[in-house]
Amino acid sequence: MCGIVGFTGQKPCVDILIESLKRLEYRGYDSAGIAVFENGSIRTAKAKGKINEGLVPLINRGADNLYSTDFSHQTCGIGHTRWATHGEPSDVNSHPIGNGRVTIVHNGIIENYREIKEFLIGAGYSFESETDTETVVKLLDYYYDGDPVEAIIKVCAEIKGAYALGILFRGFPDTIYAVKKESPLIVGDGKTGNFIASDVAAIMEYTKDYYLLEAGEIAVIRPDSINFLDIHRRHVEKKLKTVDWDISAAKKGGYEHFMLKEIHEQPSVLASSMAVRIKGGLPDFSDCGLSPEKINSYNKFFIVGCGSAMHAGIVGKSLLEGLGRVPVTVDIASEWRYSDPLIDENDLCIVISQSGETADTLAALKLAKERGADTLAVVNVVGSTIARAADMVIYMSAGPEISVCSTKAYAVQVEMMYLIAFAVTFAKGKITEEKCREYTAELQKLPELVSKLLEDKADYQYAASHIMSAESLLYIGRGLDYALSMEGSLKLKEISYIHSESYAAGELKHGTISLITEDTPVIAVATQTALLDKTISNIKEVKARGAKVVLVTRAAQTIDEKAYDIRVNLPEALDIFMPIITCVPLQLIAYYTAVLRGTDVDMPRNLAKSVTVE
Ligand code: G6P
Repeated sequence: MCGIVGFTGQKPCVDILIESLKRLEYRGYDSAGIAVFENGSIRTAKAKGKINEGLVPLINRGADNLYSTDFSHQTCGIGHTRWATHGEPSDVNSHPIGNGRVTIVHNGIIENYREIKEFLIGAGYSFESETDTETVVKLLDYYYDGDPVEAIIKVCAEIKGAYALGILFRGFPDTIYAVKKESPLIVGDGKTGNFIASDVAAIMEYTKDYYLLEAGEIAVIRPDSINFLDIHRRHVEKKLKTVDWDISAAKKGGYEHFMLKEIHEQPSVLASSMAVRIKGGLPDFSDCGLSPEKINSYNKFFIVGCGSAMHAGIVGKSLLEGLGRVPVTVDIASEWRYSDPLIDENDLCIVISQSGETADTLAALKLAKERGADTLAVVNVVGSTIARAADMVIYMSAGPEISVCSTKAYAVQVEMMYLIAFAVTFAKGKITEEKCREYTAELQKLPELVSKLLEDKADYQYAASHIMSAESLLYIGRGLDYALSMEGSLKLKEISYIHSESYAAGELKHGTISLITEDTPVIAVATQTALLDKTISNIKEVKARGAKVVLVTRAAQTIDEKAYDIRVNLPEALDIFMPIITCVPLQLIAYYTAVLRGTDVDMPRNLAKSVTVE
């Protein structure tokens, strides 16, 4: 987790660091800090809390003499925004961490930090923070005798785990050193200076040209040069890349929150993402290597992911099994990786990840590869670790998703599940080409329907006003509606902090129904025609026990008015396509509930968007 940035150039760096860090706050916001060179010394300012709450006021007060002299001369520095792993969120555990000679920012986890710490204590070092990062600082200091690269090489040989490091060495006041293993890091090539950052969106305001640092590579970044070395100090030639999306995609564009903006982007990203994957009216994954022959060679399918990505996988399982009649296992990556799964070289493992950096999903992918299975990554971030590690990649093309709470990425992940399911079903001979075209054409109608759902939000706001005071609530549904209930419930608890659970509607009576009182609202999702009567019976059961029911169902469905209190209507589509439609009201009910409760919608407490720890 955590986000790191750095700038060295011909301009003052403090504002650049702060602005870039703000774009990385989705990676964690327990604390933030910067360290800059000032008259040859390294000055640090860091504080617990979000950038605007802790760091910025601190800098404005003139913390740590940061602006003690003419601050226009501070042109080289590094910054960090933290999601706490080792050590609670506090000023002292914030990054940058330094000792006067060496100062670093770190994203990742040093697994053998205890061992190193013991060694360093024996060598006379003392420690102030509870972080694993401080051991890296002290180890660098231990090896540093005026040659930064030498010290970095020696430290990298000893530390184990995942890391992306930005390092300042006293004596090299215009130089940022960077090195990485597993955690992402890019090096930006700008006209008035050069950068490091955890992702390109952080520095896009300043440059669109960047290099992707690979594991074991060291970058030496000066205002007018960037050099890459390997661990034997040999020069590494790297290809300059250019971001192909616009900075406006990473800004709020007039919306109050990124989440609302990203919800509104769904019609256009759903349309553009599928346009890339449909050729001649049929799904086409030939460019990523998923040919019909390959599909036919697979016995079993596994889908693995975390959070919303896993929820998209549940929809995928239902489609692949229902249409393709192939056996599919779907699991949470952190469970699957330790479950000794029954996967072998005849199987396909599909991993789903917006960021392409989620540690457990990456580990699941590696496990599938070890077992000889083919791996297919459905990923949004181009060039991310998971994308590079997989045998085949389907890029989602959803554009940057900034809000911690996933919305458009989830919708596009689900959309990709449809296209994969159609391709598998067709390749396995379970549907004719004509039927496959028909399904694909139906899918292409969905962006328009989603767009209609966004025209009038009164129902979602009304539903939100009824659940905003609840302490706890339940989402229920059957089949695909249950899968959507899980996602709806996750959205709500994530951003509104109301406890909620999703439950298979038919299972309620085996225990959970005892939680129902008139203070426990129920959000019931009922879109699946074949299951409708059964679900309505379950809804009546909770209604009879006093629950206020928000019913999410098709507008065209006739349902006894006594069964619900508030009704949210959906447009018509074939049953199998209802998930993409249904997710939108669920996102907006969660959104408006959070707004009414005054929470920090885009950066909910304790969370981070990119979870690079296990
Ligand atoms: C975090 C985010 C979730 C996301 C999950 C998986 O927990 O808060 O919104 O679904 O990680 O992320 P990924 O990048 O792998 O899709």
